[in-house]
Amino acid sequence: MKAASLNSAATHVLRCVHCGIVQQRVTPMFRCTECNELLEVSYIGLRESFPDGPLQLIDVWKQRRLSPTAEDVSGVWRFRELLPHVEPMNIVTMGEGNTPLLLLQKSATALGLHDLHAKHQGMNPTGSFKDTGISVAISMAKAQGFSHVCCASTGNTSASVAAYAARASMKSVVLLPSGQISSGKLAQALEYGAHVLQLRTDFDGCLKLLEEVVKRFPACLLNSLNPYRLEGQKTVAFELMEQLNWSVPDHVVVPGGNLGNCSALGKGFLELRDLGLINSVPRISVIQAAGANALVRTMREKDGNELVCVNAETRATAIRIGNPASWRKAVAVLKNTGGLAEDVSEEEIALAKAELGAEGIGCEPASAASFAGLKKLVRSGFVKTNEIVVLILTGHMLKDVEYTAQRQSDKLAAPMDADTDTVISALETLEKTNQRN
Ligand code: F0G
Repeated sequence: MKAASLNSAATHVLRCVHCGIVQQRVTPMFRCTECNELLEVSYIGLRESFPDGPLQLIDVWKQRRLSPTAEDVSGVWRFRELLPHVEPMNIVTMGEGNTPLLLLQKSATALGLHDLHAKHQGMNPTGSFKDTGISVAISMAKAQGFSHVCCASTGNTSASVAAYAARASMKSVVLLPSGQISSGKLAQALEYGAHVLQLRTDFDGCLKLLEEVVKRFPACLLNSLNPYRLEGQKTVAFELMEQLNWSVPDHVVVPGGNLGNCSALGKGFLELRDLGLINSVPRISVIQAAGANALVRTMREKDGNELVCVNAETRATAIRIGNPASWRKAVAVLKNTGGLAEDVSEEEIALAKAELGAEGIGCEPASAASFAGLKKLVRSGFVKTNEIVVLILTGHMLKDVEYTAQRQSDKLAAPMDADTDTVISALETLEKTNQRN
């Protein structure tokens, strides 16, 4: 089939997001050699690389869904025309992406919204959106001959890095803030064979230290400072557009920590628009925990021109980050799409998580922040009731069972005798309580 065999990944350069300089060499921290800011992947001659015009991509990507080859099955590499070129033998994939878009009927009704969906990135191989980014970043690392990869993490990145490294027969090194990540995420990194180092500092401290470590230890850094991470993560925009039959939603709401994911999402939508695959972009809004709201304060207090760091504190440990690396990229996404940064309290996060749960959609606390934030955006009138909204749920509920178990423990009846009458009577009581609520 002519269309599906299109395989023209355009060439790319790494460009500084601040001073715009194209990098002649790449440092281990992936920072600009002139001004030390972050880099982004920029494609050369992308439009020209499609002889029949970029719109043909829509069919090419659709046809690949029928193909059994690993890079077509992947919900990331299926979109490889808009990714850096990697030879198939170096592609490390576990079928990431391909996550469901779920209608949230009850929540929509409660908020008075007509159309509310959740794109559940927690359905990725290791249970979080990180897999889409790690697949691309580790494939690039493999192609460049690295034997080791590394990251600092609040838990999900480390789980993903460890798993993908194991698949690629590479060694992973993960730096974690001691006592600040859920046991499930820690268990994943250990199971997948990472060198796990717990440090007496927070996530920001781990990342800062890692930038020093990679100057002396030859491991490829896979945090979202690595611009190839964002290339993988941006494909969520492509997959979402396919699922919505290329009809652009009005709003996409995403939680923010180190701010790589919202930056990737924005890049994905803007690239689709620049190629003419869509005519407009959704407003992308970023939700943070009130105790870790660096982007919110950066927008409110400095109009996005200067980062306001905070001492991060939240039980949504995945987004417990006070000095977000990708803040400049995130500010650009807010400005280019017309979205807002908003923060939500611990109680609002917990409530939002339980409400999604009551609709059969489990997610981890950080993910629920997006729903809590959406409620605020509807109340303030920023999101109108007739608009189409998509929430990005970033991590699986089983990532942090301690949180949920604690929150829901009062619902659990005490152990009872294994006796029919006792069970029936207990059920009747539960039914009555249910009716009252
Ligand atoms: N949601 C979850 C479940 C996360 O794990 C993270 C980040 C975010 C949201 C925020 O995404 O950092 O791109 O703004 N987790 C990172 C980690 C920091 O180490 O797993 P972001």
